[in-house]
Amino acid sequence: MSDAKSLLQELEGLVPECNARLDQASSLSDMEELRVDFLGRKGRLAKIMSGLPALSKEDKPVAGKKANEVKTALTDLIEGRQSQLERAAITESLSRFDPTMPGRTPNQGSLHPVTLVMDEICDVLIGLGFEVATGPEVENDWYNFEALNIPPEHPARDMQDTLYISDSILLRTHTSPLQIRTMMERTPPLAAIAPGKVYRRDSDITHTPMFHQIEGFLVGKDISMANLRGTITAFIHQLFGAETEVRFRPSFFPFTEPGAEVDISCVMCGGTGSIDGKACRVCKQTGWVEILGCGMLDPNVMKAVNYDTEIYSGFAFGVGIERVAMLKYGIGDLRMFFENDIRFLQQFS
Ligand code: PHE
Repeated sequence: MSDAKSLLQELEGLVPECNARLDQASSLSDMEELRVDFLGRKGRLAKIMSGLPALSKEDKPVAGKKANEVKTALTDLIEGRQSQLERAAITESLSRFDPTMPGRTPNQGSLHPVTLVMDEICDVLIGLGFEVATGPEVENDWYNFEALNIPPEHPARDMQDTLYISDSILLRTHTSPLQIRTMMERTPPLAAIAPGKVYRRDSDITHTPMFHQIEGFLVGKDISMANLRGTITAFIHQLFGAETEVRFRPSFFPFTEPGAEVDISCVMCGGTGSIDGKACRVCKQTGWVEILGCGMLDPNVMKAVNYDTEIYSGFAFGVGIERVAMLKYGIGDLRMFFENDIRFLQQFS
């Protein structure tokens, strides 16, 4: 029969001993060591308790009760000190935190230059009274060519230029089909713009298979070339500044009669043809850059949409967005718009 008295004494001795060790523990790892030493599976308490089975029937419950008390006391002591040390560690790390340090600024995206110019042109034209029309990029032959007075043998229909989906379905090569779609849905007077993507079978330094255009058109009574000139001039002055000179050059489009191309005084050299004595690369020393195509609606187009040419007349124009963006921002290479190089795009934020 083991000595119950000495077992109880040993048990009672654990608490002051633990207390003494606690005073020396200065870190959380010290504490873990201490916990294992006293309360672990092979620790001091467990070792003493291994003597329990040898005690007499009367002594066992007394020793068991004492053991529980000691265990609770030890746990309280150890956990108390542990949380004290944890709090101290937090306070310590907070004292090293500097709330005056600047934070990390999140990267902010920006609109693509094509979108910026598109929005700007739309805003100007909406301001002049045009409403916005939209239509499909996958178009059929009739809207893209036939109704626009582009006969089957016209070179623009060549496989070189047009991306065909089937014999009669294609990717629109310009925004001009929106003239037809809008006129067929409406009765004059009307004034609309149609911004969007267009596709051509073309790819080199100055051509991409997809680019953007804005079509503008207006139909009413007594609409003349003077109205076209006034509208285009007002539009260009708002877009490039009132000092910009505008010139109309006769040109040909199957869907206009007469047709014209519009040049503006070069935005790079101010129309002088040279910068600091050197030839201007943008206008190739001519002082002028082409900006859009336009003209009065051809009678054949009016007929295609069943408009009476005795009553109505109208004009249309088409602007290439990338071209305007290149002139506005002084961008020398068309491909930059499509490479999505973040260093390029960031400059427009
Ligand atoms: N559709 C022509 C093009 O893509 C541009 C244009 C539109 C010309 C309207 C005249 C009138 O080149």
